[in-house]
Amino acid sequence: MTVAQAEAAALGASELERALDLEAECTRLLALEEDLFEVSFWAPEMARRARPGEFAQIWTGPDHLRRPFSFSRADPERGTVSFYIGAVGRVTRRLRRLREGEPVRLLGPLGRGFSLPQEPGRSLLLAGGLGAAPFPLLADWLLGRGEAVVWLNGARSPAQLYPPELLPPGLAARSQVTEDGSLGRAARVTEALPAELSQFHRVYACGPNPMLAALWERLSSGSAAGRLEVSIEAPMGCGFGTCLGCAVPLPSEGAGYALCCRQGPVFPAGSLDWERLRRQPAHLE
Ligand SMILES: Cc1cc2nc3c(=O)[nH]c(=O)nc-3n(C[C@H](O)[C@H](O)[C@H](O)COP(=O)(O)OP(=O)(O)OC[C@H]3O[C@@H](n4cnc5c(N)ncnc54)[C@H](O)[C@@H]3O)c2cc1C
Ligand code: FES
Repeated sequence: MTVAQAEAAALGASELERALDLEAECTRLLALEEDLFEVSFWAPEMARRARPGEFAQIWTGPDHLRRPFSFSRADPERGTVSFYIGAVGRVTRRLRRLREGEPVRLLGPLGRGFSLPQEPGRSLLLAGGLGAAPFPLLADWLLGRGEAVVWLNGARSPAQLYPPELLPPGLAARSQVTEDGSLGRAARVTEALPAELSQFHRVYACGPNPMLAALWERLSSGSAAGRLEVSIEAPMGCGFGTCLGCAVPLPSEGAGYALCCRQGPVFPAGSLDWERLRRQPAHLE
């Protein structure tokens, strides 16, 4: 049995139906400020299957395990999937140097993404820094369903904000805050929440786990608590439920753990044990 066959056997039936394991050529690399970039790959069937909040495992060579990245865009018409990435280590730096036509391996779509509304309403998309990654795709889907979408992005400085020119057209409102105050209000994103949170039918958040824990601390006792979904990070090996590396703690006694790669990475915020999660490393050291 080949490694690919063994992995396919390990994938549950439902994952097997959805996930593709393929070689995909880079179609574009858009270098952004500092070490941020958006990279796109030719993968038409994956673009058709990807849903907001789901992710792909990217593999660039035999010297590393696959790395997880949220779909930032999926464009079935162009046949491409795109990822918004920060070059923090070996694989992300290698991806940052990709040229058009160079291949990587993609495994996905994987995981459970954001829940989407049955009826149009009003959504707040709240991103801390690179946490903006899954939101262009989510915004596309929400806007396509007639949802009013408000975008709120915070970062340490303007260079780490998602580029406004890449935002999908048609947002109801957009605001940006920076911790250093050089653009927008000087605040953390969790301190810049709209005053009237009750007007939002859904609040979607993504960012570093400590930021999400701070958000939950602010919202857990209010009416928005039940409407908050978060995309979290956990150290991932396989990405499809066999290595148990991505276990995240659940709150109630005896409930144990959930696998971030299969039951997440998107969770209802109230279903997680934030006290323990904020102390847990989010990536492999
Ligand atoms: C479900 C999921 C979705 C993700 N989506 C995205 C995405 O859309 N865009 C994106 O850029 N990243 C995303 N990540 C994080 C991404 O997988 C890691 O940044 C990546 O694995 C780093 O690989 P590397 O080989 O470049 O770094 P490594 O060589 O593994 O690490 C190098 C150094 O960077 C540190 N490091 C690793 N990851 C991070 C991190 N996330 N933040 C800060 N420091 C880090 C390590 O601790 C180490 O010190 C996601 C993670 C998960 C679990
Ligand atoms: S990453 Fe292997 S079980 Fe989740």
